[in-house]
Amino acid sequence: MTRPARIPAAVVSALAAAGVLTACGSDGDALVVYSAQHESLVRTMLEDFTAETGIELEFRDANDSELANQIVQEGKASPADVFLTENSPGMDVVDRAGLLAPLDQKTLDQVGEAYRPSSGNWVGFAARSTVLAYNPAEIAEDELPASILDLADPAWDGRVGIASGGADFQAIVSAVLALEGEDATREWLTGLQRNAEVYASNTAVMKAVDEGEVPVGVMYHYYWYRDQAENGLIGDDAELHYFGNQDPGAFVSVSGAGVLASSGRAKDAQRLVRYLTAREAQEKLADSSALEYAVGTGVDSAQALPPLADLDAPQVDPGELSSPEVTELMQEVGLL
Ligand SMILES: [Fe+2]
Repeated sequence: MTRPARIPAAVVSALAAAGVLTACGSDGDALVVYSAQHESLVRTMLEDFTAETGIELEFRDANDSELANQIVQEGKASPADVFLTENSPGMDVVDRAGLLAPLDQKTLDQVGEAYRPSSGNWVGFAARSTVLAYNPAEIAEDELPASILDLADPAWDGRVGIASGGADFQAIVSAVLALEGEDATREWLTGLQRNAEVYASNTAVMKAVDEGEVPVGVMYHYYWYRDQAENGLIGDDAELHYFGNQDPGAFVSVSGAGVLASSGRAKDAQRLVRYLTAREAQEKLADSSALEYAVGTGVDSAQALPPLADLDAPQVDPGELSSPEVTELMQEVGLL
């Protein structure tokens, strides 16, 4: 929210209390953060931000596509100062609409190049690996697919679980699209549409694998590691297969942080993104129960995880992952 610069704060408060200043819908001095990443992780990473900077935060939490579409609709009038996504395609929607301000170079330099777009208009602050959960009682290790693309083969009919309605799975599709092109992606999705059992979430996929409903399921790594840390209550009979080999199935999805070009608090907004990617917040991520990957240069992720650098992920520019094209393709084949 911007306010006329020459009106004293006390007068502004009085006017706001009287309902005179309602232009942007924000209630006062807090920096407005639209956040689609897991609430607990974002709050943990930023728990000391206000104490250290004096900048109050106001969060609006929803999922990637809801918030991305909301920002685009609001355009330059958006009350958002900062946008945090769970996966990067949602950020890409806002970036393509020209609504992001370039980030300070100092902020960009805090994060490994693989975890930020070449545009420099936003930056990664966490990362998550695609994995194939499998049930060793239902499938032998040597029968596991070498590539995520193999799951479109008729041999997998009825034998793979996916959470195709979620932003996580759609980010994986965006990586397949970037790496393999439109025709190959359409073909893959057509096979998956026939083969896959569709579940509501990563956790539901893991549970289905655990219970032998399907022998394998596509998900992100941290749901399994979290469950293990909580004594394997949901997925103790599931194991993880990493595709590696720069396969599209080894895709590492980046959670993004960006500053809205329309923000009247550009300096504070830039400061928040710098804080989120600096060592202190990145170490909080690594030490938290989230078990997502830290992306800050020189910060090690949680010990329970295989090192990010060892996953042999495919190289994709996280700024080139599109959600509108993915949604169209998935609708075309009947997966959405
Ligand atoms: Fe998640």
